Amino acid sequence: MMRNSMAMLFVAVVGVVIACYVVEGRFVVEKESISVLSPSDLRYTRHDASIGNFGVPDYGGSMVGSVVYPQKGSNGCSSFDGDKPFKSKSSRPIILLLDRGECYFALKAWNGQEAGAAAVLVADDRDEPLITMDSPQESSDANGYIDKIGIPSALIEKSFGDTLREAIQKGKEDVVIRLDWRESMPHPDQRVEYEFWTNSNDECGIRCDEQMKFVKDFKGHAQILEKGGYTMFTPHYITWYCPQPFILSDQCKSQCINNGRYCAPDPENDFGKGYQGRDVVIENLRQLCVHRVANESHRSWVWWDYVTDFHIRCSMKQMRYSKECAESVMESLDLPIAKIRSCMGDPEADVENKVLKIEQDRQVGEGSRGDITILPTLVINNVQYRGKLERTAILKAICAGFQETADPPICLSGALETNECLERNGGCWSDVRSNITACKDTFRGRVCECPVANGVQYRGDGYKSCEAFGPGRCAISNGGCWSETKNGQTFSACSDSDLSGCRCPQGFRGDGHKCADINECTEDHVCRCDGCSCKNSWGGYECKCKGDKLYIKEHDTCIAKNASKFGWFLTLLVLGTTAAAATAGYLFYKYRLRTYMDSEIMAIMSQYMPLDGQHNQVTQHEAEPLQQSA
Ligand SMILES: *[C@@H]1O[C@H](CO)[C@@H](O)[C@H](O)[C@H]1NC(C)=O
Ligand SMILES: *[C@@H]1O[C@H](CO)[C@@H](O)[C@H](O)[C@H]1NC(C)=O
Repeated sequence: MMRNSMAMLFVAVVGVVIACYVVEGRFVVEKESISVLSPSDLRYTRHDASIGNFGVPDYGGSMVGSVVYPQKGSNGCSSFDGDKPFKSKSSRPIILLLDRGECYFALKAWNGQEAGAAAVLVADDRDEPLITMDSPQESSDANGYIDKIGIPSALIEKSFGDTLREAIQKGKEDVVIRLDWRESMPHPDQRVEYEFWTNSNDECGIRCDEQMKFVKDFKGHAQILEKGGYTMFTPHYITWYCPQPFILSDQCKSQCINNGRYCAPDPENDFGKGYQGRDVVIENLRQLCVHRVANESHRSWVWWDYVTDFHIRCSMKQMRYSKECAESVMESLDLPIAKIRSCMGDPEADVENKVLKIEQDRQVGEGSRGDITILPTLVINNVQYRGKLERTAILKAICAGFQETADPPICLSGALETNECLERNGGCWSDVRSNITACKDTFRGRVCECPVANGVQYRGDGYKSCEAFGPGRCAISNGGCWSETKNGQTFSACSDSDLSGCRCPQGFRGDGHKCADINECTEDHVCRCDGCSCKNSWGGYECKCKGDKLYIKEHDTCIAKNASKFGWFLTLLVLGTTAAAATAGYLFYKYRLRTYMDSEIMAIMSQYMPLDGQHNQVTQHEAEPLQQSA
């Protein structure tokens, strides 16, 4: 407890507030593993690296890349010349090796990212155990880029840095390493336990804004995980205590409750005005009790609603940070106010508060976990999370905490993008026209899987081919089949009556993805009647008979147009009957025709006149099977 009292002493005496974090403490270094794959003389050596507390470490994953050490500006403190000089031109990403010193670690990572590197390694410049590269706390010019760092970065020991540099300078073989975060997060079972160390103070600048933004962004995921029983989440709040000699001082009175036992820094750094530290402690206590009471009725996730609603409705800025406001939020969330009040106890009493006492005890690290010294801090499966406080980065880390095969669906859904699909669709199949891809981001990397898009199922290997399958497929990019329109006429190789596949329509030849017009005149041996002239057209052909004769397409024959109407009908009938002789339908039809073969049928036939019109009709329907005549 010495550390805490030191911190409080500092607060009380100097009157300077350590707004959102404690400076000292046993900080644990969270590690990842690096193995060298090439050059051959270094192969199979393994090294530890400490995960940077910014950017996005690939918890649960790994990355193989070529190490590049810049010729110029190897400390990475200024931006690199050229357009993304470290962007990989092959399939293997570039891991940029930089020297420690002269600027913030985060700036190096940022410059590396801007230059196209996939990850940044910083080589320590002194022999010492690994430390954690943290993001700058107070620098205002850093705030522009910290949030935008999306690549992983790590610190390596000086000796390993020297080895890598030397191997690169020899230049005989590519230096290839594997960054491995698979064991950075324990994943013992089917449930992930995680804690969020936070503060209800909403006026501490960037850190407070950052943590609130995270709570709002992550709420949806957190509640899904909690409701599904996949996680057990517990919020925690850091408090300090007032050293004995100062308990009666104004500072401790305004910053502490329960007679100096639980304190928080003054939100405005000004003891005289605005809210006091004790207001923050009381709200912290209330939020803890909200979680406890909600948890008792198996609605632990309501904490996320309470905290976000409270932030919106009861902000310090609007001078609404109060008990009344808090209780109106509880009311709207249907939380039992009386129970929460009794959980909170009496802040004025000179006694321990059972809830806050537990918090103070938990603050000191147990085993591998380390003390909580940075606010906000996330502890997942008893390991402190490193990396930026951002929704997908954290979901990924939580997902890495499940025993493999026990991933809840959210870990496999699109909500968790590894962004591997953004480039070249992750090497998966895609259809540019309909903007459909088989690439799916999961936290364990991308998978190529033919999708269901707009209600249509795709089938295939997902890498090279996916084909729409089943009903409705022709409406989407024509089922991936050939289709073309010319002079207002459209032909398609997709038919909804086929569940899959593409078939060139009549008059065309091809594999269904490409169809070419058939020149029926020369290839199909049509229009061969005596004196006929044949003219190929797109998707069909035209045949003109000699003299006054009429071409009957189905039968590729010419008949005399000036035959009596009845004679023409008979001809048609005879031709038709040869085609359909086998069908029972024909027999019935013929029977009917016999009975009607008189003037009445002539009258019916006259509806089909003029005959020229009929000829045109026939050519237009070529692409469809001609069954109506039988
Ligand atoms: C929440 O409830 C569960 C059992 O329902 C319990 O194991 C857990 O410790 C509770 N969490 C807190 C913070 O009270
Ligand atoms: C394709 O889809 C993605 C995501 O669904 C969207 O961001 C993008 O703008 C779309 N592109 C086109 C050309 O429609």
